[in-house]
Amino acid sequence: MTIGIDKIGFATSQYVLKLEELAQARGQKIEKYTTGLMLDALSITPITEDIVTLAASAAQTILTDDDKAAIDMVIVATESGIDQSKAASVYVHQLLGIQPFARSVEMKEACYAGTAGLNYAKLHVEKNPDRKALVIASDIAKYGIASAGEATQGAGAVAMLVTSNPRIATFSDDNVAQTRDIYDFWRPNYSTTPFVDGIYSTKQYLDSLKTTWAEYQKRHQANLEDFAAFCFHLPYPKLALKGLKKIMPKGLDESFKSHLTNHFEASIQYSRKVGNIYTGSLYLGLLSLLENSQTLQAGDKIGLFSYGSGAVSEIFSLYLVDGFKEMLRSDRAADLEKRSALSIGAYEKLFYEEANLTEEGNAKFDTYDTGTFALEHIQNHQRIYVRKEHD
Ligand code: HMG
Repeated sequence: MTIGIDKIGFATSQYVLKLEELAQARGQKIEKYTTGLMLDALSITPITEDIVTLAASAAQTILTDDDKAAIDMVIVATESGIDQSKAASVYVHQLLGIQPFARSVEMKEACYAGTAGLNYAKLHVEKNPDRKALVIASDIAKYGIASAGEATQGAGAVAMLVTSNPRIATFSDDNVAQTRDIYDFWRPNYSTTPFVDGIYSTKQYLDSLKTTWAEYQKRHQANLEDFAAFCFHLPYPKLALKGLKKIMPKGLDESFKSHLTNHFEASIQYSRKVGNIYTGSLYLGLLSLLENSQTLQAGDKIGLFSYGSGAVSEIFSLYLVDGFKEMLRSDRAADLEKRSALSIGAYEKLFYEEANLTEEGNAKFDTYDTGTFALEHIQNHQRIYVRKEHD
């Protein structure tokens, strides 16, 4: 029996900030973003779209009624949660109509927690091969107006269904993780945006990659040539490209190098247009690779580098299974083109709007475009979500 990812779904916001617009407003050259960070556009959410609506929208694109009857574990990984106590997965479980005898939990460790969620799901399915686990990595990355990280914001959710005998990819038992207690990026409870030591965070990302990769190689006698492709956490694609170059050994065959680089290009197609989606960003890279590579085949081994500030990192691998292409889409890029482009003023208002609560804890919102689900209002401090009728 194998265990792995049977389906992958993705949702993002209905609004986009093109980086030409941001460059002009912040007095930067557009090449700083398109070449320096390798980003073109960022997904921007209104107040009625949060990590719950994004997570539910991503999952509803892949789940059948049979899946909903077989899922008994719902994990939402996030670092932009909407409640300190109640898990986002409880709302998602209800919005999706998953059978009641399920475990629902929220997991956190910056951008890393989706990987922890997959590990938990894998253990669960190993013990219960006829059951399915839903793991959703959902986040809204907000750094603040005119902050250093502003051009790397984003929003989105990646939903993965973990099953036995999966139809996309199987997990290997080769995970190597590393924890180091650092302050490179963190967000105390009293702050709506993170504190970031930007350059230090990039050094920590690259050093965590180098040292975790060295340990992975030692434990598994592995070489880069064993992999058809490598996916990385994508705070912005340029950092991941530096990471790929870091793990390429001297003297690597030139044609293999260009093969890995082509796959890297395929893996950043969606993130270039969406920005950083924190926990989901590694898995958006995986989805982008699988949907945009013309050369991947069943049996290929894919390496993944997960990184969450603070910091926890992990390297592990997946094997593609026969027929994986049939479980994917070829027209996803067209969805991204449908997002409404925002002016700088509209972006600043939309992305940073806060709920204006009455003394009783009620708030109403203007109508905005969202995916299948929306936060309709807040009543007595309770968030009221709706499924939109047209979906
Ligand atoms: P910055 O001040 O925006 O940019 O900070 P910069 O001046 O360092 O320039 C960026 C790149 O653009 C440089 O390339 C410049 O040379 C280039 P590099 O030297 O790095 O190769 N550049 C140009 N290229 C072409 N034409 C031009 C031009 N001008 C400049 N005209 C920084 C960048 C990353 C610090 C900032 O964006 C930031 O603070 N970002 C947020 C933190 C972050 O993303 N860190 C990544 C590692 S931590 C992580 O991955 C975890 C995270 O996802 C959170 C979590 O785990 O929860 C963030």
